[in-house]
Amino acid sequence: MKKSILITGSTDGIGKLAALKMAKDGHQLYLHGRNADKLNAVVAELKKETGHQEIEGFVVDFSDLNAVQHMAVEINEKVATLDVLINNAGVFKSAQPLAANGIDIRMVVNYFAPYLLTHRIIDKLKESKEARIINLSSAAQSSVSMQLLDGQIEVSDQEAYAQSKLALLLWSFYLAVQEPNIATVALNPGSLLNTNMVREAYGKFWSSADKGADIIYDLALITSAEEMKGQYFDNDRGEFGEAHPDAYDETLIKDVIEKTQRILEGF
Ligand SMILES: NC(=O)c1ccc[n+]([C@@H]2O[C@H](COP(=O)([O-])OP(=O)(O)OC[C@H]3O[C@@H](n4cnc5c(N)ncnc54)[C@H](OP(=O)(O)O)[C@@H]3O)[C@@H](O)[C@H]2O)c1
Repeated sequence: MKKSILITGSTDGIGKLAALKMAKDGHQLYLHGRNADKLNAVVAELKKETGHQEIEGFVVDFSDLNAVQHMAVEINEKVATLDVLINNAGVFKSAQPLAANGIDIRMVVNYFAPYLLTHRIIDKLKESKEARIINLSSAAQSSVSMQLLDGQIEVSDQEAYAQSKLALLLWSFYLAVQEPNIATVALNPGSLLNTNMVREAYGKFWSSADKGADIIYDLALITSAEEMKGQYFDNDRGEFGEAHPDAYDETLIKDVIEKTQRILEGF
């Protein structure tokens, strides 16, 4: 059945490859990127390569939460139905480690932006008969510091990335409980896949980017919604698995969510 799918960060890496697979199937696709020229080029490339024309794009830099808020408004106005949201956009290294609001750019792009976007368009997803949200976490997961969340401290690239990916995972588990009619899953797509992010961060890779795109595709379209709901899929092992111990600490999750809501109060 044809689905309506939004993939953030689909101008490159595993998001772009997953979009290509989905375009070949003829799904209604909404791509997203931070650079208008690159996004338009990817939309044109996918249309040409697949012959499928139902592909549209949204340009928003996720380091600017005001812009994310505007993207949500635009989606609510322009997108008739939405079945699958893939929160894939992410950053590891950045020339500018802080976003405009003074908070670490990994926390803003990898955690606050998908959190804000999802909550602002969730009613659209609730209209779908089988809604899914796929949150791109990572094997890199580190306990979330409240000081990093609200921009009081700076940490290394690796630490900021790992904390942002655990924050996303904690929220993913929380959201799955809050919204039982939406199948929300957190995903480690596989470690050191061959993408720009990994080559910039580590200067090497272990596996092809297709490994990550294939599991995104499966969770978005094939895996049973009941099976994946509220789970963490670890694609290093190729199965649902155990996340960081913090992901099972309900008090801690509540604290992180409350802090997040306070930080996002102005939006
Ligand atoms: N590759 C791995 O081994 C691996 C492992 C675990 C988790 N992940 C996760 O998988 C997701 C995709 O990563 P990838 O490896 O495919 O990386 P990638 O090739 O660097 O792609 C990242 C995507 O996010 C976009 N993006 C980056 N910063 C942004 C910003 N400020 N605003 C809006 N969009 C932004 C990029 O846009 P541009 O095209 O403009 O750069 C690109 O479309 C990320 O969430 C990553 O953390 C990847």
